Amino acid sequence: MQIISIDDDYQAWREAALQALASRMAPEDIDWRVIADDDRAATPALFDDRARVPRAAVAPAKVRISRELGELLKDAACYRDTARWAFLYRVLWRWHDGDRSVASAADCDGARLYKMAKAVRRAKHDMIAYVRFRLREPGNDVPAPDQPEYVAWYEPEHDVLAWSAEHFARRMGRSTWLISTPDAAAWWDGKNLRLEHRPASSSDHCRHTADEAEALWLAYYRSTFNPARLNETAFEQHMSVRFWKGLPEGHLIPSMISEAKSGAQRIAQARGVGMLGGKSVPVDAHDAQPARAQPSTLDACRRCELWRHATQAVDGIGPDDARIMLIGEQPGDQEDLAGKPFIGPAGRLLDVAIERAELRREHLYLTNAVKHFKWMLRGKRRLHKTAAQQEIEACGYWLQRELERVTPAVVVTLGATALTALLREKVSLRDWLDRPIEVDGMRVIATYHPSFALRQEHDEARERVLDAIASALARARDLADAERER
Ligand code: URA
Repeated sequence: MQIISIDDDYQAWREAALQALASRMAPEDIDWRVIADDDRAATPALFDDRARVPRAAVAPAKVRISRELGELLKDAACYRDTARWAFLYRVLWRWHDGDRSVASAADCDGARLYKMAKAVRRAKHDMIAYVRFRLREPGNDVPAPDQPEYVAWYEPEHDVLAWSAEHFARRMGRSTWLISTPDAAAWWDGKNLRLEHRPASSSDHCRHTADEAEALWLAYYRSTFNPARLNETAFEQHMSVRFWKGLPEGHLIPSMISEAKSGAQRIAQARGVGMLGGKSVPVDAHDAQPARAQPSTLDACRRCELWRHATQAVDGIGPDDARIMLIGEQPGDQEDLAGKPFIGPAGRLLDVAIERAELRREHLYLTNAVKHFKWMLRGKRRLHKTAAQQEIEACGYWLQRELERVTPAVVVTLGATALTALLREKVSLRDWLDRPIEVDGMRVIATYHPSFALRQEHDEARERVLDAIASALARARDLADAERER
């Protein structure tokens, strides 16, 4: 196995790949590695070359590829996946061998290539649509020569910062700016663009202040929001929750939605209806009261301290007569903002497993062992922190109420926290996998949490975990069906 170490960018990969092709190195014989910034800093002499490929006696291969394949490769190179360089080399290798089907969406590699490129194009589009430059706060300690007028914070789904920075550099004239992301930053000084990996302190560099234009925009945004017309699903489809935090108006959205849900919607409608002409009818004074929202008792929960840092408590979702209940760990960043479980990356992966098990999400009851998001700040990102045993126990009260209300025939616990919550004692997940048990008259199946699949570095490992989750769900489906027939 030959190790090829490269910078994590397309150009470095391309140079290394052409050289490897010239040496006829088969894809399965290469271990592609990315040179970490830490390694480079520790031993700079080792990393003089952009691509540390064993120097071939032969010149780099000349490969003629179609323009379309070229675009696909370039886009797919921005896809965040540690296996991407190996995969792109396999595509190039097959093409070089005359196998043109590799560029077709009907081919297995081709389909993956198209999927990656599509996701990256979407990420580019999103970044352009949702980056917001804001006036840098005076005193924001960005180093002196680099004091940009505007700063922006953005968390791209794929490595599209370089591409987007060029886009903004073309459009922002001579205004100077900095875009920070969790792992890199782009600076524009009015003439030159500079990209830096690992910004020194992204959150500090992004401290901004609101200028008059921004204040005006916020006032306008608030005044045009009509709670009576809020369609939350359509709203989120139009603008995904993960973009909210980078937008000036982002912090207004959760509170406006929750105000709308807790009465403003109905009150606004009542006012609108009251202004319509029509005949008077006698009404009972009690019925004439505007419908008041029931304050959510869950949201008012103070059984532990997690509520202090969460936006809101996230209740379970699904039909009260669901036969299968899925219990996760706790809401993540996006769930915390939107107030709904499993809508972020783990939720999307869970959807894949649900589909593979031939189940439908809307027939399932989805909830979490812990109802508030527990997090720590890293840069500007709120990173998940595992709930403590006391917090799981405190939240057990709410889980118990859901179990009593829904009375599912089968419960699937996703990850160790959910299993611990259900068994009311700290357990190791490994001991319970693939062993359906009975708890309080319910069949319980323990499986992995989808975020465990997300954390796997390699596609095969991710696929194995996902398959295990899908099999557990399929088993739950069979048990629930058998239960119904009894
Ligand atoms: N992870 C969970 O366990 N639950 C959610 O709702 C989201 C992510």
